Amino acid sequence: MRYIPVNQLKEGMVLGQELQDASGRMLLEKHTPLSKENISYISFLEVGGLYIEDDFSKDVEIKSVVQSEVKKTSLHLVFDLFGQLTDGEENPEEKAFQENVQNVVNDVLENRDVVYNLMEVRTYDNYTYYHSVNVGVLSGVIGAKMGLSEQDLKYVVTAGFLHDIGKVFIDPEIINAPRRLDEQERIHMMEHPRKGSDFLRDHYSFPADITTAVYEHHEWYDGGGYPCRKQGDETLLISRILKAADVYDAMTSNRPYHDSYLPSEVLEYIMGRSGMEFDPEVVKVMVQELCVYPVGCEVVLSNGERALVVENHKGYALRPTVKFVSNERIIDLTADRNAWNLTIVKLMV
Ligand SMILES: [Fe+2]
Repeated sequence: MRYIPVNQLKEGMVLGQELQDASGRMLLEKHTPLSKENISYISFLEVGGLYIEDDFSKDVEIKSVVQSEVKKTSLHLVFDLFGQLTDGEENPEEKAFQENVQNVVNDVLENRDVVYNLMEVRTYDNYTYYHSVNVGVLSGVIGAKMGLSEQDLKYVVTAGFLHDIGKVFIDPEIINAPRRLDEQERIHMMEHPRKGSDFLRDHYSFPADITTAVYEHHEWYDGGGYPCRKQGDETLLISRILKAADVYDAMTSNRPYHDSYLPSEVLEYIMGRSGMEFDPEVVKVMVQELCVYPVGCEVVLSNGERALVVENHKGYALRPTVKFVSNERIIDLTADRNAWNLTIVKLMV
């Protein structure tokens, strides 16, 4: 299987993963050969890219930290919770929510060796739900690497799923504005952590650390954030993890006000703001654990050749194993002596 950006899809390519929207509705089935109509439908959905299957990539396995069923349930629960939050009654989904979080944590702990996969297929209009689930999973991955207890992992995953729930109370025109917000709008927007944590406290019985992390997810390590300008360990560690996971996922996604950045650019940004916006300990783990060239993506090498990333190696984010498009030769850029002068110069996404 391999990842193809939407503008490079061609008729006859075969879908390697089913395409769904955030409510779990099936849009296109796995193994569907793409027609012209399918491709224009996919472009209309503003999906960034898709996984396709072909002979060249048949041995490339895209591993996922969290099983697709668990992820699907997460999306569904987040979708429901965001959708029904104004009824003011105790939500019967809370138990299902917590059970699902336990499943996410189990997967995260079981798949410690799996590199977090970035090239995620998501439709544009349901950004909030995908983003919430991704932030939950990524926070869990970072938390597990930092040695958090299982309880704290559950807290950080739950807080990730719910961190932006306060945005439901913000004018959608402001949330989706494809421009810089004016001062008044910015102040309104900055209310969402408080509105979200107040809402959760009033309507649910989540542990206090979870509502606190939702409240603190825009604080900066140096005190430059909001709503309380807390600094360093005045915020919970899970809040600092959430903060970094949130920025990472938002920047690698297409948004109304920016196209997505490459994983390498986002990591560069996060490293550059270590100790200011982000907790240096969290940054250290992200730099070690997140890959720059995701498996299944095509890259261009310094000799002009194109290749597919087939495997990542821990601690060597810039030198994965690749398969050349021209002759199907597979080389490990960390170990092959003939490849030491080869570098990756471009990710084709
Ligand atoms: Fe937020």
